[in-house]
Amino acid sequence: YHVDWDTSAAEKAGFDWFMRKEIFEQPKAVADTLLGRFNSKGELVLDEMRGISPEDLRRINKIVIVACGTAYYAGMVAKYAIEHWTRVPCEVEVASEFRYRDPIIDPQTLCVTISQSGETADTLMAIRHARIQGAKIIAICNTNGATIPRESDAVIYTHAGPEIGVASTKGFLTQLAACYLLGLYLAQVRGMKYADEIRVITDELAHTPQMIQQMLDGADEIYQLAHDLASAEDFIFLGRHVGYPVALEGALKLKEIAYQHAEGFAAGELKHGPIAIIEPGMPVFVVVPPAGRDQLRDKVLSNIKEVKARGAHTIVLAENGDDGIEADADLIIRLPHTSTLLQPLVATVPLQLLACELATELGHDVDQPRNLAKSVTVE
Ligand code: G6P
Repeated sequence: YHVDWDTSAAEKAGFDWFMRKEIFEQPKAVADTLLGRFNSKGELVLDEMRGISPEDLRRINKIVIVACGTAYYAGMVAKYAIEHWTRVPCEVEVASEFRYRDPIIDPQTLCVTISQSGETADTLMAIRHARIQGAKIIAICNTNGATIPRESDAVIYTHAGPEIGVASTKGFLTQLAACYLLGLYLAQVRGMKYADEIRVITDELAHTPQMIQQMLDGADEIYQLAHDLASAEDFIFLGRHVGYPVALEGALKLKEIAYQHAEGFAAGELKHGPIAIIEPGMPVFVVVPPAGRDQLRDKVLSNIKEVKARGAHTIVLAENGDDGIEADADLIIRLPHTSTLLQPLVATVPLQLLACELATELGHDVDQPRNLAKSVTVE
C-alpha cells in the first residue's frame, strides 16, 4: 500500500503557490500583527519597545526610515502616516543609498528599519551607519532573532508567519500594520495633535482584516482581468499620496514574478513625462483616494481622463459608492471604505492577486522567480 504524499503540496494547503497561499493568509497575518498591542483603554502597549524609552521618543526631532524593495514602499506609506500624526519630519530612503550620501543623523534621530527577513545586507549596513552616528534604531521585522532586530534598540515584530514566496505579500501588509502601530505609538507618547482622528484610525485598524478578506473574496474578478491582460507588454500604475507607494508596489510585483515591464508613478507626475509613453490599449491602473479627500480625488480623476483620452485601458481602484468614475474606467475594482492613510492595506491586495495570476498564466515559477533571492545578504 502506497500513499502519495507530496510534502510541498501539503505545506501549500491546496494552493498552487506559496505566494498565493500567503496572499490569502493576509487577513490573519494582519490580525496577528495587531493582536495584543492595545490595552482595554485603546492605548498602544508595545512591550518590544523596551530598549527605547518614551523619554527617548520625546527627544527625537527627526525620523529616517531605511529599507529595500517592498519594505521600502511600506516605509513610504509610513512617512505619510508618521508625519501627519506626529509632526516629526520623516525621511524614507532605500537602504543601499543611505550611508553613501553622508546622511545627517545625530542622537536625536530615530532610525526605523523595515525588513521581512531581518537579514538584508543593504539594510543592515544602513542601520550600522546610523548607530555609529548615535541614532536610536527601531526594527520592524518578521523574523525572530534575525540580525537586524538583534542590532536594533527595539523591534516591532510583524507576526506574519514564515513567508516563503520570494515576492513579499503578507510581509508587506503586516509591515504596513506595524508602521501604523509605530506612528500611533509615537503620537501617543509625544502627545496627540489629532486625538479624534487617531481614535478613528485605531478602531478602523481593528476592522482591516475583514476588509482584506473582502478583497480576497473578489479574487475571481482579478483572475479574469489577469487572463484578459495576458498579452499586454507594458503596465502603468498611478496613485497619489499613499496610493503612490501602492502603485510602485503593484508595478514591482509584476516585474518580480511576471517579468512584465511595469512602472509606477505619482499620478501628479504624469504630465511631467510619463504621459508620453501612453499608447492605445496600454493597461493603466489608477488608485483613487477615498471619499473625504476630494481635492486629491479630483486630481486623480482628471489623470484618469487624460490617459483615457490617449486610449489607455483604464483599471480604476475606487471605493464602494464612489460614482462618477464609470465614464472613464474600463474596469472598476471596488475597495471597502477606509481612511486615506489605511487604504494601502486593501488597495494592494488585487495588485498582488493580479501579479500571481498573470505569472501563473505565463507559465512562470511564481515562488522562485528568476534572478531574485528571498533575502539578499550581499550589498
Ligand atoms: C529581496 C526580496 C524582496 C524584498 C527585499 C527586502 O529583494 O526579493 O521581495 O522586498 O529583498 O527584503 P527584506 O527581507 O529586507 O524585507
